[in-house]
Amino acid sequence: MNNPKGPLAPAEGKLGILLPGMGAVATTLIAGVLAMRKGTAQPIGSLTQMGKLSTSTGNPKIKDFAPLTALDDLEFGGWDVYEDNVYEAALNAGVLDYKTLKGVRAEMEAIKPMKAAFDRHYVKNLDGTHIKTYTTKEDLAQQVIDDIRNFKAERGCSRLVMVWCGSTEIYHEPTETHRTLAAFEEGLRNNAPNIAPSMIYAYAALKEGVPFVNGAPNLTVDVPALLELAATTSTPVAGKDFKTGQTLMKTIVAPGLSARSLGVKGWFSTNILGNRDGLVLDDPDNFRTKEVSKLSVLDSVFHPEENPELYGDMYHKVRINYYPPAGDNKESWDNIDIFGWMGYPMQIKINFLCRDSILAAPLVLDLALFMDLAKRAGWSGIQEWLSFYLKSPQTEPNIRPEHDIFKQLVTLHNTLRLLMGEEPVAAASEEAYQDGPQAS
Ligand SMILES: NC(=O)c1ccc[n+]([C@@H]2O[C@H](COP(=O)([O-])OP(=O)(O)OC[C@H]3O[C@@H](n4cnc5c(N)ncnc54)[C@H](O)[C@@H]3O)[C@@H](O)[C@H]2O)c1
Repeated sequence: MNNPKGPLAPAEGKLGILLPGMGAVATTLIAGVLAMRKGTAQPIGSLTQMGKLSTSTGNPKIKDFAPLTALDDLEFGGWDVYEDNVYEAALNAGVLDYKTLKGVRAEMEAIKPMKAAFDRHYVKNLDGTHIKTYTTKEDLAQQVIDDIRNFKAERGCSRLVMVWCGSTEIYHEPTETHRTLAAFEEGLRNNAPNIAPSMIYAYAALKEGVPFVNGAPNLTVDVPALLELAATTSTPVAGKDFKTGQTLMKTIVAPGLSARSLGVKGWFSTNILGNRDGLVLDDPDNFRTKEVSKLSVLDSVFHPEENPELYGDMYHKVRINYYPPAGDNKESWDNIDIFGWMGYPMQIKINFLCRDSILAAPLVLDLALFMDLAKRAGWSGIQEWLSFYLKSPQTEPNIRPEHDIFKQLVTLHNTLRLLMGEEPVAAASEEAYQDGPQAS
């Protein structure tokens, strides 16, 4: 793995975190950070704030080892199709209770979403009207660029990152429009229907050199045209889909089964979810995007092509059911049919009563802080070392995505060690990262 070229710029001044989509995840993040600044909450679940790593001199917290932006230096902004301020949106999302929100109410009320770049074709189940009008998609992208510039100037930020926390868009495949930057820009001018709103935000961010993370399974920045733009403007990107809930459990349990050479015959995963995300995913086209993301996980941990006698016949099924009474408290069930010595069958049942946004919020914080670090280190393009946080990690075409959470953590730690001039620890997972993150 190469050390990054050039010096690591310090985390001076304020970092603006821009969030397209200010719903459950985004508002839970903001409320948490504001409460942490007041000392009334702990950043549980955040690796940057609570995680440690071993170095030649000890076992420091990551935030004391790598020069990350302090929570006091963060500013929040974003866009939504509903005009509720962030406090109202948090109340609607129903993740945090009134008592928790009371202490940060004034600061949250002051954060109001900007008008969204939206197209109902991509998210049918939303009817918000707080949306931009435009002539061409080029004009729409320019409006988002103007928003970015205005936010940066008004809030006095020295740096920005953008993390897509908007709804999951419908499933679509890359086309000619997404193949090159020139074709994409032509598509913007001609209102190409296959340029989704999330791509407009990504394009605007990358044009401005703002690192972009895709927290949903949408195609978004996983197309050659936008990767070309990221390379042109030396900007880091990462995606897709925050790894929370059921998939988090899967990537914890599956590596253990694989480590013990236990076979898996079937893995049935079902969920009930009652928040707005669940409503959007109730539409089959939107669910398809999520399904593809969720299904990719097991194959890459078990490698059935290399272990056909253990995983060759594995049946994997994932379902999400919208059930309003569940609210944001997602409940998932996994039935895992495994087999052991001489093929004897066994079963594992997992019933995870999780709070989706409570698991997702610290991931947004960590991704934002690490993407800013990557930018200051002069890295650009896909940041595979952040796969730890993602359900469907984006990788360079020649690199197989890694889903095993333990290998992902080693890679993340080693990337930080190398950045700070330490030796990496030996781990089998390192082979895919011999060349290190792409330096600009
Ligand atoms: N909560 C989790 O654990 C989790 C895990 C993985 C991925 N995700 C993904 O993160 C995203 C956010 O999840 P959530 O629970 O906060 O959902 P949410 O429905 O509460 O919030 C999404 C918000 O995005 C807004 N939105 C939709 N399209 C937009 C656009 N074009 N521009 C601006 N705003 C737009 C919606 O109005 C909504 O307020 C979803 O795509 C979800 O699938 C969430």
